[in-house]
Amino acid sequence: MRRLLLRKNQTPLSVCLFAFFICGGASGLYLMGFFESVPSLADAKWHDTSLTTEERIDDLIAHMTLAEKIGQMALVEKNSVAAGDVARYGIGGMLSGAGAKPATNTSEGWVTMIAGFQSEARTSRLGIPLLYGADAVHGHALVPGATVFPHQIGLGATGDAALVEQIAAATAANLQATGVNWNYAPNLDLPQDIRWGRTYEAFSNDPLLVRRLGAAYVRGLQSTTTGGHIPVLATLKHYAGLGAMRWGTSLNTNFQIDQAVTPVDMPALEESYLPPFASAIDAGALSVMVGLNTWDGKRLITNRALIDGELKTKLGFKGFVVSDWYGVYEGRTNLFAATVEAVNAGVDLVMLPFDYKTFVRNVSLANRLGFVSTARIDDAVRRILRAKFALGLFDVPVASNAATPLLTQHETLARTAVAESLVLLKNEHHTLPITPAVRHIRVAGSAADNVGQQSGAWTVEWQGIDGNWLAHGTSILAGIKARTPKNTFLEYNASGTFSTKREADLGIAVVGETPYAEGWGDSAYPILRNDDLTAIKNLQATCKKVVVIIVSGRPLLIANEVGSWDALVAAWLPGTAGEGVADVLFGDKKVMGTLPLPWPKTSEQVPLTLDGKTADGTEVLFPRYFGLAY
Ligand code: BGC
Repeated sequence: MRRLLLRKNQTPLSVCLFAFFICGGASGLYLMGFFESVPSLADAKWHDTSLTTEERIDDLIAHMTLAEKIGQMALVEKNSVAAGDVARYGIGGMLSGAGAKPATNTSEGWVTMIAGFQSEARTSRLGIPLLYGADAVHGHALVPGATVFPHQIGLGATGDAALVEQIAAATAANLQATGVNWNYAPNLDLPQDIRWGRTYEAFSNDPLLVRRLGAAYVRGLQSTTTGGHIPVLATLKHYAGLGAMRWGTSLNTNFQIDQAVTPVDMPALEESYLPPFASAIDAGALSVMVGLNTWDGKRLITNRALIDGELKTKLGFKGFVVSDWYGVYEGRTNLFAATVEAVNAGVDLVMLPFDYKTFVRNVSLANRLGFVSTARIDDAVRRILRAKFALGLFDVPVASNAATPLLTQHETLARTAVAESLVLLKNEHHTLPITPAVRHIRVAGSAADNVGQQSGAWTVEWQGIDGNWLAHGTSILAGIKARTPKNTFLEYNASGTFSTKREADLGIAVVGETPYAEGWGDSAYPILRNDDLTAIKNLQATCKKVVVIIVSGRPLLIANEVGSWDALVAAWLPGTAGEGVADVLFGDKKVMGTLPLPWPKTSEQVPLTLDGKTADGTEVLFPRYFGLAY
């Protein structure tokens, strides 16, 4: 709970006070390594590129003090670090939680900000560069001007691994252009309850499809550049079983299903939930994020059998495990015990994300008292360094503002993705595609002229922003307008109120959900808004036929309404390339998408099973992989 209330950019005072009382004064300094003897750097060899990576890592670790090692295990939110502390603590990673932007939110602003942190890291005794992470989960959408691609659920509807790979590569290019070397994507959750506010962040609830698309995303994001270095590091999240969380069991009192209990046993995890991770690891992933769920009666983050056992030992994962936002501490009062349990379970890099000082002291203390072994700390540091070497951070100079390319627009790619992601669920009376015989079109609905709504959350702000506030991007309405033949009369009114009752040939209702992220999107009844239902009715009263386009992060409960609609298209959260919708409506491109998860009729049908069935065994409205064509 605290994580979300504190989010973004505040340092929790209670945590600082606790830290002060737990380890004060000189003992704190001792524990932070101030009195530790410093290995000489005279014979340091880790910059020697003729050595193997593992030899370079061995050498670097041999030259590190305990305090320097523990510093590498800290991942700090960018507004929470005090001046000079990046170098003083030898911090391993920093992040912009969604919405934590530079003062000037442009690619130059990002480069300047991150280059500043990187330069400071270089001034530490060892000069180890930082990992800098961000949630570019549908393109580098935190920066205005970057193309916003469909959220992952839309990519799941395309089923197109080559397309996903291209989108990930485009995202990497823009991350590089801003100095971000680590992306918190892809999401490999398998959502089974459409009431969950994170349904849209996942590709599908079919483990096989998620395996295919997750691995493609990793390949695209990490496609090797010259020098054999990975341009941007992928993160597989969230480990493990988040999609199976049960309604009403959240440990966060604001939520119902986010951060809840995953009631799935080990054989089921092994059979269905871990294979997508295995495939993405095979594709080269070097970072895995542990989720905020509870499993087997305890926070999953403390589960050694799952993190150290299944992931590192059985799947042979050689990269590092990172905790989620405040994830080690969430729901815990004893921060020392929470830290010890998570590190011993196998967490290597801790997304604190605020109070690194307490963390450093706690791990030092735990090591001194024998709760956390030096071997475990060395293993964590080795894994973090392995990723840093793979990124070439030791060998490539830090990007400076002058040397860095600007963001690239990828609207054509995004437009293709949008068109491929649309799923035609109903098409009666030859409503679609729109033919030249259609001479009068009326458009209505909250999502028709709303790039913010069609982009969804994780767009500049964590929760997204409703409305047309982005300087770029094409609304679905603008795409339709641009494609409508000159001799066809097109009218738009959000509520569907038109001055004349004369019947138009076609009504297009673009309706859906306002943006939400994480538990704030948990909803007992994911249904259409009243104003959108009114807009549809108004169109039905004044148009011969009506097609409804749903812009949403999940299937909505529409069983009571769909019968009266002539056609229905699921558009998911398409992003900035709204033209892609018109491409399909007018038949310029084939309609190809299929449902990446079943579309239930009622909330009694959830949770859906991984094989596409319902909880109560009844028929869904539209089954998984359903999609009409024309
Ligand atoms: C989310 C992660 C995200 C992280 C960093 C958390 O709240 O659960 O998916 O990567 O924040 O912003």
